[in-house]
Amino acid sequence: MSKYPFLDKLGITELNAGCYDGRTWAASGEIITPISPITGQPIGPKVQLASVADTKRCLDHMMQAKAQWALTPAPKRGEIVRQIGNALRDNLVPLGQLLSLEVGKIIAEGKGEIQEYVDICDYATGLSRQLPGQVLPSERPGHFMMEQWHPLGAVGIICAFNFPVAVAGWNAAVSLVCGNTNIWKPAPTTTLCSIATQRIVANVLEKNHISGAVATFAAGGVDVGELIVDSPLVNLVSFTGSCKVGAKVGAKVASRFGRSILELGGNNAIVVMDDANVEMALRSLLFAAVGTCGQRCTTCRRLYVHESLYENFVTRLSALYQKLKIGNPLEDGVLVGPLHTLAAVGIFESTVKKAVAEGGKIRVGGKAFHNDPSVPGPNYVQPTIIEIDSKAEIVKEEAFVPILYAMKFKTLDEAIALNNNVEQGLSASLFTSKIQNQYQWLGPCGADTGICNVNIPTNGAEIGGAFGGEKATGGGRESGSDSWKQYMRRQTATVNYSSSLPLAQGINFDA
Ligand code: UN1
Repeated sequence: MSKYPFLDKLGITELNAGCYDGRTWAASGEIITPISPITGQPIGPKVQLASVADTKRCLDHMMQAKAQWALTPAPKRGEIVRQIGNALRDNLVPLGQLLSLEVGKIIAEGKGEIQEYVDICDYATGLSRQLPGQVLPSERPGHFMMEQWHPLGAVGIICAFNFPVAVAGWNAAVSLVCGNTNIWKPAPTTTLCSIATQRIVANVLEKNHISGAVATFAAGGVDVGELIVDSPLVNLVSFTGSCKVGAKVGAKVASRFGRSILELGGNNAIVVMDDANVEMALRSLLFAAVGTCGQRCTTCRRLYVHESLYENFVTRLSALYQKLKIGNPLEDGVLVGPLHTLAAVGIFESTVKKAVAEGGKIRVGGKAFHNDPSVPGPNYVQPTIIEIDSKAEIVKEEAFVPILYAMKFKTLDEAIALNNNVEQGLSASLFTSKIQNQYQWLGPCGADTGICNVNIPTNGAEIGGAFGGEKATGGGRESGSDSWKQYMRRQTATVNYSSSLPLAQGINFDA
């Protein structure tokens, strides 16, 4: 029995293969020792990563399983995804605990992530009875024209550390009901919770006598990611990560005429108008800027407060920051866990320094704990608010740490321009009670983000909407709405059921 009983429940052993090729769990890459960011110490079990050869084997097996899965009726595929959702429900607590231990997020958020995978399974199960094409009127008599959706083939799912299970699930569940075979590459620092999740998926496939190669898994390094990105066998690459790496992934996949879904950085703002419900705005800010220790792509990093409220609002928010319990995220009442890596602590410190050099004034926080005995490990930092001029350059950079820039504005037009004046375009929220402001914000010349909210935080989106953003965020959409269309190929099909051959556009071509 290991130090953490939930590892036994999830079948995590001393040495775990980081590759599932659809038949066996076997890996031949480097052996790593997963570390918990909570303590900076090894969790216990080791993982042998997937090598390039292992990943090629996954792709090979996927190609063999492709036709059978594509020909399985979509509602039957949905039934498998329903069972995956139920198996995740049964394991929600241990899986959420493992995720928290490995990523460093608080337990409520760890469990919330598994819930997000469960929710998308429910959604995808319903979707499997729809995947609707259209019937379109043909201009030619005796002709029937329709649009139908076919599986794309193979999908590569490359995930980031911060939402290792939920974002994998958004892609996997939808892609599976769409009839694709998947290969999932998790981040190298979240291999254990990914292996445990993959086991659950593989068991459901096995119980239903479906080839495991429908959902393969390769926890490897950059070489494994590059193979997936470059392989002509992979029709769609869904990539979550930084704008810098995402730009390369997008260009590489496009150069081989593959498709990509890019889910890249955000530099999200909350705008608080003079007529806002201040209590609601304060609570939202706390979750949006401090939740997950600032490590969501939807984290709020820029706060614009109307000048008439500014001082009072920032003072009250700073007071709330001072009350935050920072520590072991597995303990009750803790709201702020560690940063995921020590490197992120360095980014936190250098960003605070740069902001101060640009004239920023620290209102609260600003320090890393290092080896302070009040926290259980070396990765802890204080959630920080820095008051700064809205023209400061640092404000345009997304640092994946809990630093919030507080700034003033005078008019909504100005706030919209400030909101839009960054490279990324993921999420933005306006707090106001005036309907005119709300619709200006949501209008065509309002916020230019993929997710645009009124009176709610920038983060914590539901699975039912399409998730993603514009500009340097990459333009991709995952999860709900009609995101499923990206995982399928559209076919316009016309059938002539008459005995003559009229041509479109009235063309006569008889010799
Ligand atoms: C991410 O940070 O990559 O909207 C995803 C949210 C979550 C998903 C975040 N549902 O904050």
